[in-house]
Amino acid sequence: MKVLVIGANGNTATRMVRQLKSGPHELLAMIRNPAQRAKFDDMGVPTVLADLEYPIDHAVMGCQAIIFAAGSGGHTGKDKTVLVDHIGAIRAMVAAQVHGAKRFIMLSSINADINSQSRIAHYHKAKAHADNHLRQTDLDYTVICPGGLTDDPGTGKVAINSKLKGAGKTSRENLAAALVMSLDLENTIGKSFSLLDGNTPLKEALQSV
Ligand SMILES: NC(=O)c1ccc[n+]([C@@H]2O[C@H](COP(=O)([O-])OP(=O)(O)OC[C@H]3O[C@@H](n4cnc5c(N)ncnc54)[C@H](OP(=O)(O)O)[C@@H]3O)[C@@H](O)[C@H]2O)c1
Repeated sequence: MKVLVIGANGNTATRMVRQLKSGPHELLAMIRNPAQRAKFDDMGVPTVLADLEYPIDHAVMGCQAIIFAAGSGGHTGKDKTVLVDHIGAIRAMVAAQVHGAKRFIMLSSINADINSQSRIAHYHKAKAHADNHLRQTDLDYTVICPGGLTDDPGTGKVAINSKLKGAGKTSRENLAAALVMSLDLENTIGKSFSLLDGNTPLKEALQSV
């Protein structure tokens, strides 16, 4: 499969790209800033320039799978949260449908909820709207909802739950491994689950969703 990683320069996605690089799939890293190219050139990973606020069809064409790991981040305005995390994500789904990228893995968030009252309700609402849209498509989707992300080393051990609410931490390394592994685990298709650091070996946890 040719896999497009959206938001490839991100903290989680960079870890994911490193992991994917040694696997069986062809990889295309979507970035929005040409200055980021050198980092991927050094890894031997091809890049495509595209911005979720504009058409991204040229990036999606020829890919069979998408991992969406982009996000507007905590330092932008609420307008960008809507443009990237909500509308940008739906743009990616539509492009996937139009161009036949059937497998779609969404990096979402624990507590995503269209009725969120949280401190970052605008973000949790945007993620929930995007996730709900994805669940209504005919794409082979998986929605993975981590807790607070950390740069702790990956333990390879997690706690997975079909309840999408809760609290806890998720190491970006563990999350990256889960996103990558899900690509090849058909049982994760059509599933949404939270992913926290825990005690169950990752593969065993993913096989049980
Ligand atoms: N932080 C948390 O505790 C937490 C908890 C739960 C879920 N999450 C989710 O996890 C995701 C990944 O986290 P992270 O820390 O790895 O994120 P990150 O380092 O902030 O990476 C996000 C990436 O998205 C890219 N991006 C932003 N706007 C874009 C646009 N318009 N078009 C294309 N790409 C765009 C950024 O590009 P540039 O490199 O060019 O800026 C960046 O590379 C977050 O976005 C969030 O939705 C986070």
